[in-house]
Amino acid sequence: MRILITGGTGFIGSHTTVELQNAGFDVVIADNLSNSNAEVVDRIEKITGKRPDFIKADLSNARECRLVFDTFTDIDGIINFAASKAVGESMEKPVMYYKNNLGIFLNLVEEMKKRNIKYFVQSSSCTVYGEPDTLPIKETSPVKTATSPYGHTKRIVEEMLDFITATSDIKAIALRYFNPIGAHASALIGELPNGVPNNLLPFITQTAAGIRKELKVFGNDYPTPDGTCIRDYIHVVDLAKAHVVAIRRLIDKKNKKDLEFFNIGTGNGFSVLEIIKSFEKSTGVKLNWSFAPRRAGDIIQIWADTSFAEKELGWKAKEDLDSMTSSAWRWQQTL
Ligand code: WQD
Repeated sequence: MRILITGGTGFIGSHTTVELQNAGFDVVIADNLSNSNAEVVDRIEKITGKRPDFIKADLSNARECRLVFDTFTDIDGIINFAASKAVGESMEKPVMYYKNNLGIFLNLVEEMKKRNIKYFVQSSSCTVYGEPDTLPIKETSPVKTATSPYGHTKRIVEEMLDFITATSDIKAIALRYFNPIGAHASALIGELPNGVPNNLLPFITQTAAGIRKELKVFGNDYPTPDGTCIRDYIHVVDLAKAHVVAIRRLIDKKNKKDLEFFNIGTGNGFSVLEIIKSFEKSTGVKLNWSFAPRRAGDIIQIWADTSFAEKELGWKAKEDLDSMTSSAWRWQQTL
């Protein structure tokens, strides 16, 4: 079976390509390299011994998207990672985010319909839940009004999938990620943010590497045990494996609805201070940090109820927090 991975040279896409190849799938990666580089293809080959096909393409451009499918005519399914994904940037450039993220999705659906490709896994996000009313959060928990254009595009794609799967042969699964961190054990692939990292873990590892002077902890007066925000951090390899299970569920026609949603987290919430503690313990590196004012747009706390994914997908995250923080550090040391 041949799977198209859009955004496959990115952080989660590259790890998913590795796990798909390990599971015996053939992979073609389409990526515009706006936030990653083609060398990732060589590194995936080094890890798995199989070189994925690669085509550079701006999938938000209908002609370039069509060329992908004219070039690779044996695509059985798609896992769609390709999107702009910086919350802060989306507040400054909302139109670019809507055009890019929704344009990619709609071009892919057009091509799927034309070529009778039926199986689609969408990279979605827990950001669709906003600030939860109750925790842990279930797939049936209310989806809230988006707090950024980035989060809004995730929600819109889910809602479009509802109508598209109801009016076509396309079957889809949306995986709602929590906070993916860490890196492959080989330290050949990992998170490679452009410029100053927005996310916590790359900022921690760059501070530990001396690239950043000090980690600012955004807020210590939240209504949480230690005053800092809580998130459900999940190892990127566990997350990648969930995509293999999801696409196989569709191919094997085990899905129970035309569109299914799954929370992909660990079910454990950790605070910023607990992440720092885990990093220092698992790496032996003392981190330079201090408290700073709250960051606009941050929710207080969220973690997943993973029982539905465990029951229906037979999938459960296995890696613990120290493995996440230590693998992120091993990756950073190669940069
Ligand atoms: C985590 C915690 C920060 C940086 C976002 C998106 C989500 C997904 C992951 C793309 C928060 C704190 C962070 C720093 C800090 N994105 N922090 N100092 O905001 O939970 O999720 O990224 O798919 O959709 O919403 O992740 O890593 O930015 O922040 O104190 O320098 O770390 O305040 O509490 P977030 P994050």
